[in-house]
Amino acid sequence: MGPVSLFFLVLATAAPLFSAAQGFGYPTANLSTLWINNNASLPHVHYRGGLAVRPILLRSQSNKYYSQSFATGFFCAPPCDKFYFAVFIVQTNADTRIVDGNPPVVWSANRARPVRENATVELTSDGELVLRDADGSLVWSTGTSRRSVAGMMITNIGNLVLFDLMNATVWQSFDHPTDALVPGQSLLEGMRLTASTSATNWTENQFYVTVRADGLYAYIVSAPPQIYYMAESNDNKEGNDTTKVTFMNGSLSIFVDPKYQDMNSISLPTARATQFMRLESNGHLWMYEWNTGEETWPAVYDVMKPKFGDCGFPTVCGEYGICTGRKCTCPLQDNNSSGYFKPIGGPEESLGCTPLNPISCQEMQQHRLLTLNEVSYFDLSDHIMNETNQDDCKQACLKNCSCRAVTFRFYQNETEGYCRWVTKVFSLQSIKFEPLDYNNSVFIKVQLGPSNSAAANNSNLILGTTIPAIIIVVLLAIAVTLYLQRRAYYDKKDEDFNFDQFARMPARFSFQKLRECTQGFNKKLGEGGFGSVYEGKLGEERVAVKRLESARQGKKEFLAEVETIGSIEHINLVRLIGFCAEKSQRLLVYEYMPRGSLDRWIHYRHNNAPLEWCTRCRIILDIAKGLCYLHEECRRKIAHLDIKPQNILLDEKFNAKVADFGLSKLIDRDQSKVMTVMRGTPGYLAPEWLTSQITEKVDVYSFGVVVMELISGRKNIDNSLPEASSNLINLLRGKARDNQLSDLIDKHSEDMLSHQEQVIQMMKLAMWCLLNDGCQRPSMSTVIKVLEGVTSIESAILNRFIDANSVMPVQDNISAYSVQPQASTLSGPR
Ligand SMILES: *[C@@H]1O[C@H](CO)[C@@H](O)[C@H](O)[C@H]1NC(C)=O
Ligand SMILES: *[C@@H]1O[C@H](CO)[C@@H](O)[C@H](O)[C@H]1NC(C)=O
Ligand SMILES: *[C@@H]1O[C@H](CO)[C@@H](O)[C@H](O)[C@H]1NC(C)=O
Ligand SMILES: *[C@@H]1O[C@H](CO)[C@@H](O)[C@H](O)[C@H]1NC(C)=O
Ligand SMILES: *[C@@H]1O[C@H](CO)[C@@H](O)[C@H](O)[C@H]1NC(C)=O
Ligand SMILES: *[C@@H]1O[C@H](CO)[C@@H](O)[C@H](O)[C@H]1NC(C)=O
Ligand SMILES: *[C@@H]1O[C@H](CO)[C@@H](O)[C@H](O)[C@H]1NC(C)=O
Ligand SMILES: *[C@@H]1O[C@H](CO)[C@@H](O)[C@H](O)[C@H]1NC(C)=O
Ligand SMILES: *[C@@H]1O[C@H](CO)[C@@H](O)[C@H](O)[C@H]1NC(C)=O
Ligand SMILES: *[C@@H]1O[C@H](CO)[C@@H](O)[C@H](O)[C@H]1NC(C)=O
Ligand SMILES: *[C@@H]1O[C@H](CO)[C@@H](O)[C@H](O)[C@H]1NC(C)=O
Ligand SMILES: *[C@@H]1O[C@H](CO)[C@@H](O)[C@H](O)[C@H]1NC(C)=O
Repeated sequence: MGPVSLFFLVLATAAPLFSAAQGFGYPTANLSTLWINNNASLPHVHYRGGLAVRPILLRSQSNKYYSQSFATGFFCAPPCDKFYFAVFIVQTNADTRIVDGNPPVVWSANRARPVRENATVELTSDGELVLRDADGSLVWSTGTSRRSVAGMMITNIGNLVLFDLMNATVWQSFDHPTDALVPGQSLLEGMRLTASTSATNWTENQFYVTVRADGLYAYIVSAPPQIYYMAESNDNKEGNDTTKVTFMNGSLSIFVDPKYQDMNSISLPTARATQFMRLESNGHLWMYEWNTGEETWPAVYDVMKPKFGDCGFPTVCGEYGICTGRKCTCPLQDNNSSGYFKPIGGPEESLGCTPLNPISCQEMQQHRLLTLNEVSYFDLSDHIMNETNQDDCKQACLKNCSCRAVTFRFYQNETEGYCRWVTKVFSLQSIKFEPLDYNNSVFIKVQLGPSNSAAANNSNLILGTTIPAIIIVVLLAIAVTLYLQRRAYYDKKDEDFNFDQFARMPARFSFQKLRECTQGFNKKLGEGGFGSVYEGKLGEERVAVKRLESARQGKKEFLAEVETIGSIEHINLVRLIGFCAEKSQRLLVYEYMPRGSLDRWIHYRHNNAPLEWCTRCRIILDIAKGLCYLHEECRRKIAHLDIKPQNILLDEKFNAKVADFGLSKLIDRDQSKVMTVMRGTPGYLAPEWLTSQITEKVDVYSFGVVVMELISGRKNIDNSLPEASSNLINLLRGKARDNQLSDLIDKHSEDMLSHQEQVIQMMKLAMWCLLNDGCQRPSMSTVIKVLEGVTSIESAILNRFIDANSVMPVQDNISAYSVQPQASTLSGPR
């Protein structure tokens, strides 16, 4: 990134109606002050993307260079014809000048009713803050007249406050949240965050998050509202207690009054810089964090994770759409494509499905229930019937027109189950591939078509007199013809519509395009067993293009792998941007990682300066988080099977990301699988490769090896060293036995030596990961807990490691076996 560019700031020095004392850079204002929304009256800052702000109050951390400061004033997004009175976060320099970095809005007064140029905001003499549009019409006010307000201020955590003479708060924006939360802000019981319709239209949409007495809930509006996420407080609260949820560094915590102890919390990544979170128009609650290097606010964490991942979000596939991984389909009965629904929009869109015949409450005898097995519905509201059978559940729904579907859940052994009504059907989820101990079916109400009604009415109609009868018969004939034509039309549409194409894949590129973006595969970044990686540029974004050598795989298998990889997103996993599959060409486009792979930084072959201890710690934590996501948080458990420094990539700021999970083999969540083909790289292979079942714990072993390499700054197997020390893990065992662990610390780094005690703790964690018995190794989530200091390591583990046999001799001898690379062409090391 280049130097921070200063933005022209028109400081209103002599402007009328804008007294210097209340000018830009001041955090407070007195009564009887009027601000007019135009360039002449207010300072104004125009950003590169077309955003503009006209700040009124600013609370700057003026003693610091480049800090995030809260400001209130007018905000507009391009084309800047509509303005909001808002609180936003700006970047300020030491002179309290606003510099580049698009300002996110964290609160607004008039989200549904933007105002125009020359609108006014006034803190009146009787203490009310009033927003009027240019024509003088009242848009919004705090309603605080005659409540002895003495002034207004913006606090250093972004709260806009009207205070009285005793400095007590009379009104505050934190009591009226919009769609965002800032650190330190609480949602009290009953308060809501409501999502905006879109990034440009801030009118409230149907998603909201609220605090109830028993926890945090996310809803989508319908009658009644449906719950798609909840985090309950672990507390039996009594009588008058109130609950609040507070955004803190590292957690979103649920507190129950009067004790206000932390009763359950959702953990978040700890803050490296200023954060905020916002309920997005798709129902996700995203956390954003300022990235100083890139001067942007990237989304870093998805706070709410429903049980089945993204498929658990109500609008992911639109109304009536069924979400399977990244695909959306419309409901079919028993694969019968002459169904009841058709998709809205094109095959690439996920806009949902519309019933061919809308439900009519006048014709309830024409209602039927369409059975969808192995499908689930997100709604977490209470069941309407516990311990009932399927038929009663369905009957109850057919009897009431406001019921549009029922979900029925039952456990394998039991005939009775749990029945829940749905009055509006949002997206459904396929649970075919989820190992669950229950079964869930959804029965969707459909309206039979006009043919059935026509047939039913036929006999009655013929009873009339002859002439009307003839007319009616003619009319009927026309109706039937029209119906059949329409029917034929829908049948044809069904054929045209390929349900499988309704997928959301990573971007597909033509070979030509990738050749151009890499300038003819000119700049090679690295080479591996399966192909080479080239640097390229897609628009402004730098990318790494991996060209797989010979196409061993069919297109279908390749696409399947691309889809799996593309569906996995996490900040500690290298992101797949797109792919190309043209004739025999197979290419993958990844995000570009400027600092290359970890081995360059720890094996000292590139004259890089030794990494500091804290950087190494961060890298270890990043790898652990990436793996934890693959093992425990993904919709399907994924083992990487080839963790080694070459597959850990580093970005500009040494954030580590795990790459090449192409070798991964999906492992069933409930069961580990025996694999016949060995995968991975010698030196990093866990002992059970030779003997028993392979689970994701092989990654934990390889992780242990990588941790040891990072700590000692050498390769695990280094045949240039004397035999006694050529294998790092055996050496570790010996040093642990002799209590000389400090010998293994990287001698290149003073910083490492000065953190000796912490480094030795880290070695103990590595030893736990390196236990020969996979079952005794910690899970990656436990590893993270240890790294974060939440859990400690039992000392017995050390002895188990010491007493174990040395690593299988075969590991020492690389040529003893060859790794068979047929698992996947996507798996080549970078
Ligand atoms: C508000 O009024 C007080 C006293 O009248 C004055 O000292 C102060 O400078 C004023 N503040 C601003 C921001 O104008
Ligand atoms: C306000 O000033 C900016 C540049 O300082 C300009 O781009 C913008 O058009 C002006 N707005 C109006 C309404 O004049
Ligand atoms: C805003 O007010 C100023 C001063 O009264 C006037 O010159 C300008 O034309 C107005 N702008 C608009 C868009 O009405
Ligand atoms: C209110 O706060 C201001 C600034 O913090 C301080 O100067 C003033 O003395 C306070 N007034 C009272 C009554 O506490
Ligand atoms: C914003 O969205 C609302 C609700 O969807 C809609 O009624 C309104 O017309 C939209 N406003 C604009 C300016 O598009
Ligand atoms: C709840 O509040 C009411 C009125 O404030 C009070 O009478 C009652 O005793 C309180 N109950 C408990 C359990 O604190
Ligand atoms: C958040 O907490 C972490 C560790 O607990 C600390 O390193 C970091 O500086 C904190 N961030 C902020 C913005 O306070
Ligand atoms: C539906 O089709 C899929 C594959 O096309 C098949 O596996 C499945 O058994 C079929 N289901 C029924 C109920 O026929
Ligand atoms: C497909 O559905 C239609 C309409 O419900 C039904 O008439 C037909 O018998 C079904 N076909 C099969 C093979 O199930
Ligand atoms: C069903 O059971 C749940 C929990 O056991 C309970 O909260 C709910 O009230 C019950 N619903 C009915 C209709 O009995
Ligand atoms: C149908 O269900 C709705 C909502 O659950 C309820 O308000 C209504 O009374 C029911 N109607 C009948 C006829 O049972
Ligand atoms: C099913 O029933 C058998 C015997 O009654 C029992 O051992 C088993 O645990 C039950 N399984 C489930 C999933 O409840």
